[in-house]
Amino acid sequence: MAVRKELFGKSRDGKEIMLYTLRNSMGTEVKIMNLGATIVSVLFQDKNECFRDVVLGYDTVEDYYNGGCYYGALIGRSGNRIDKAKFSLNGKTYSLAVNDNENNLHSGPNGLDKRIFELTKECDDRITLTVQDKDLEQGYPGNFCCSVTYILNEENELKLHYEAECDQDTVCNLTNHTYFNLGGQESGSILNTQLWLAAKEYTPVIDGQAIPTGEYAPVAGTVFDFTQPKTIGRDIEADEPQLKYVGGYDHNFVIQREQGIDQRFAEAYNPETGICLEAFTDLPGFQFYSGNFMKDEKGKKGAQYTKRCGFCLETQFYPNSINQEGFAKPILKAGSKFASTTTYRFTVR
Ligand code: GLA
Repeated sequence: MAVRKELFGKSRDGKEIMLYTLRNSMGTEVKIMNLGATIVSVLFQDKNECFRDVVLGYDTVEDYYNGGCYYGALIGRSGNRIDKAKFSLNGKTYSLAVNDNENNLHSGPNGLDKRIFELTKECDDRITLTVQDKDLEQGYPGNFCCSVTYILNEENELKLHYEAECDQDTVCNLTNHTYFNLGGQESGSILNTQLWLAAKEYTPVIDGQAIPTGEYAPVAGTVFDFTQPKTIGRDIEADEPQLKYVGGYDHNFVIQREQGIDQRFAEAYNPETGICLEAFTDLPGFQFYSGNFMKDEKGKKGAQYTKRCGFCLETQFYPNSINQEGFAKPILKAGSKFASTTTYRFTVR
């Protein structure tokens, strides 16, 4: 079946924003738009055979421009924070756009989440979206070309395959900022979602900045231990400075010290719908964000969103790793190719 295409709206400079639909034989359906290569909806059948949209988003393009949460967007070329919006590479210091305290967050105000991607390939079960990011855009060196292929297969797996190249050495830390709510996007709090995380370590942050200190801390015996499943809400209000610093969970968890083999790192489950999400990646870590900065606002189909009504599992190199000794560096060398895959698998129990 060919990929369905429809007009979603217009960009601020009058370009067509398209919505592409991937659908498998179970009726699972993923909609993606070319603004920010954003995942706009994921419809999946729950245990009562009712289709639920399990990701947050908006009904209009304008809402995506105005929103501050990065719902569903591809984040690049550098996801998460870079301390003081500065880094050095090959003896040269680069100053980046500042958009989060003194730091650079998700590449700056004009990151790839705000760009119009081009549909460069399509086939029954997949689309590829590509974008060019020019030299010194948001302060990053080199003319950077990035593509993402979204694949929806018959195992109800949504695969995000990233590739990137650059004509100079640069930072490349691509992720996706989907907010999941396995009860359905309109169902409110995610605090009762059960979560298992494979991580035995996380990277503690500095007070108020959400920048890692550089340490690897064991999760054992702390609120960060999800190696036995527990609800997201169980310990979120605990008297733990690391939670207070960032208003809940907004931390990088360690999968492996370097980019390596594909690993299953998370499983989330909503007992009411029976929907289960498993996540896999070959990257070193992921940011588990419990939606602490979310504000009351209208989401898709009149849904009322509030603080902590979605959670993110953003696969990545560790935040600020370009400046941090002891963290694998997200450096893409001129002339080589970056490639990485993240998978979100949906099942029902
Ligand atoms: C990431 C960050 C959070 C927050 C969100 C966007 O997940 O780690 O601190 O900035 O993006 O709201």
